[in-house]
Amino acid sequence: MSIQVPIEGLVHSNDTFEVDDSSVNRRGIAHVLISSTYISGRIKELAKRIVADAAAGGVSQLDFVIVLKGAAMFGNVLAQAVWAAGGPPIRFNYVKAASYGMDMTSSGEVAVQSDFLTEGVGSEMILLIEDIIDSGLTIFRLKDRLTEKVDPEAIKICTLLDKPSRRQEELKDVEPDYTGFIIPDIFVAGFGLDCAECLRELPFVAALREEEFHSDA
Ligand code: IMP
Ligand code: MG
Repeated sequence: MSIQVPIEGLVHSNDTFEVDDSSVNRRGIAHVLISSTYISGRIKELAKRIVADAAAGGVSQLDFVIVLKGAAMFGNVLAQAVWAAGGPPIRFNYVKAASYGMDMTSSGEVAVQSDFLTEGVGSEMILLIEDIIDSGLTIFRLKDRLTEKVDPEAIKICTLLDKPSRRQEELKDVEPDYTGFIIPDIFVAGFGLDCAECLRELPFVAALREEEFHSDA
């Protein structure tokens, strides 16, 4: 089941971190789009599904391939939730890939910096973990690279956020296996996602003020 986030957001009144308006309305943040309580609840649900699927497939070893930098926070919290849900042991791999430069338009080029293909990831169940899927280029190019070595059936794509309305035409039919939230076509930051390398530390996902969308204008 997917969770569709409206433009005004999902904010929980009992949030993990109390954030008042003055602290939110700093550094280009327009409003909280998905509060930390929603995020941690959803990560637990995803973890339970992953653990159930791993058990059904007789998987004894999970391999996380976490896409840096944006998915570092999500991947690490997800790993803890998988442990708490009784999942199999996890091996961590990190891959640096970027299709966005310092601005907010996809360059179309996906640079991959990692030895993950030669270091060898396992072959039972590999979770390719992203912060957000936008055009789809980064994650599906990475998956292609991985299928040079591993059975594609074993590779699952897991993303915290998805903007399906932005998907490239030829990638329209490809869906992630595990999605945290489907968001509208707006630029967001927080929980690992950046805006020109800032705001990754926010415990929530924020919608940015309009002028931040056009910072390169
Ligand atoms: P894609 O290759 O077009 O799917 O782009 C995915 C990458 O673009 C993600 O890993 C993010 O780094 C970045 N990205 C896309 N949308 C956003 C956003 O709203 N906020 C921050 N980063 C984004
Ligand atoms: Mg990224």
